Amino acid sequence: MIVILDFGSQYTQLIARRIREANVYCEIHPYHISLDKLKQMPMDGLILSGGPASVRSEDAPALSFDINEITVPILGICYGLQLLTKGAGGEIVPSHASEYGKTKLTVIKDSLLLQSIPQNTAFNVWMSHGDTLISLPKDFISVASSEKIPYAALQHISKPIYAIQFHPEVTHSENGKQILSNFLFAICKVTADWKMDNFIEQKCEEIKAIVQDKKVICGLSGGVDSSVVAILLEKAIGKQVTCIFIDNGLLRKNEAQNVVNLFSKHYNLNFIHVNAQEKFLSKLANVTDPEQKRKIIGHTFIEVFDEEAKKIENATFLAQGTLYPDVIESISAKGPSAVIKSHHNVGGLPDKMKLSLLEPLRELFKDEVRLLGKALAMPDELVYRHPFPGPGLAVRILGDITKQKIATLQEADAIVLEELKRANYYHKVWQAFAVLLPVRTVGVMGDSRTYAKALAIRSVESTDGMTANWSHLPYELLGTISNRIINEVADINRIVYDITTKPPGTIEWE
Ligand code: XMP
Repeated sequence: MIVILDFGSQYTQLIARRIREANVYCEIHPYHISLDKLKQMPMDGLILSGGPASVRSEDAPALSFDINEITVPILGICYGLQLLTKGAGGEIVPSHASEYGKTKLTVIKDSLLLQSIPQNTAFNVWMSHGDTLISLPKDFISVASSEKIPYAALQHISKPIYAIQFHPEVTHSENGKQILSNFLFAICKVTADWKMDNFIEQKCEEIKAIVQDKKVICGLSGGVDSSVVAILLEKAIGKQVTCIFIDNGLLRKNEAQNVVNLFSKHYNLNFIHVNAQEKFLSKLANVTDPEQKRKIIGHTFIEVFDEEAKKIENATFLAQGTLYPDVIESISAKGPSAVIKSHHNVGGLPDKMKLSLLEPLRELFKDEVRLLGKALAMPDELVYRHPFPGPGLAVRILGDITKQKIATLQEADAIVLEELKRANYYHKVWQAFAVLLPVRTVGVMGDSRTYAKALAIRSVESTDGMTANWSHLPYELLGTISNRIINEVADINRIVYDITTKPPGTIEWE
């Protein structure tokens, strides 16, 4: 296992992603972790990440222990380089000429870290630093230089300590993968054994040991995370898990039936399908404020879930699909982050129900959850589906919600997805959907005047949903979607395409 200490860089998660892609397990921990804690981990190598601070400032983030206590190989990246070298006696000054973005790197000496990369041939790497090391600390040598700095990659002459000023984890850095791979396999000598099959085996053992003969409740939404949790639990403890799927009446066209079919027919787990449509819709009647909609849906969900869960005797655990980015956000150098959205979690449930949490995906990134789903032989339709918000279509019907409007939106949404799939765009975009607007416009159909609703199409590209760009879908595809919706869905006579990025917009309209 590789440990990454996070000094607050926006790229720290990327380092972890690259290492996991090389099939090596790694974890991110805050830079101020104690030596005791670190020593309890089966650590084969340590990486010090970049960070926004300057090592010259008085309150610069620093390790809570002497780095010489570490005997495994160390790699400092950017801020990590500056911290390591300053501690060893190097001189760091504000950069004369800043290096942000692409710069040319040249390998000048043999080094395990840079093996297999031709020497004296410049290649592009990504830099982002305001400080520069201008004199080497004792016992360090430079093994690569950039256009502007002579010490772009260093190593200790006798210990396995390496440092680089650039970011090998970003895709713009040529040979970045090779450099990380050299650190992992040539220097730390780890084996590439982080594979989903091993993960499944390990997790199942772990779940069995924790749960023993108790029962587990799993809230199932039909989305990829909770579905993967459910299937993993079924594999580990079979009938000891009960999935509760609540149909709130705000799902996509045929969604409830699809989820029920899939889980009750293909998997051998206890499955409770609660049709709570009337309850949700009656509470939402005449509500137009987005936050109030979300709150009503959240509270009603907890109420319905709690009622059902009480019927399950001896239930001790609540399983959730918490992912690694949520875990990192709450423990990282930056501390609990303001960007976590409380509405994305079923927070509140465990407290109210006095259940212990079971979070079998908490070490995984979203794409690893998908790999896990594949390794569990789950259907592609489930594994690669677009994210769908907990409050469902309620946040895509602007203004008050009626059954009629839900039916209209379900039809339009189904056409958007169908056409995206037909044109091979479904898997190219992060998420696409329709939004029913509380606006009527004048049109002409046949020879008659129409006065009907406007509908927006939104399609975005994103890696994590935190930031997003609108998809540049082909005009032909947009045209087909527009024609079909206007012809096939009653009460809609105008389609607009949303070209707002996030930020400043959000992905959902409410
Ligand atoms: P926003 O609208 O905040 O959405 O830009 C970012 C991502 O989160 C999804 N989303 C939700 N997911 N419960 C969820 O589970 C919610 O309440 C919720 N609201 C938004 C949204 O679809 C997008 O993928």
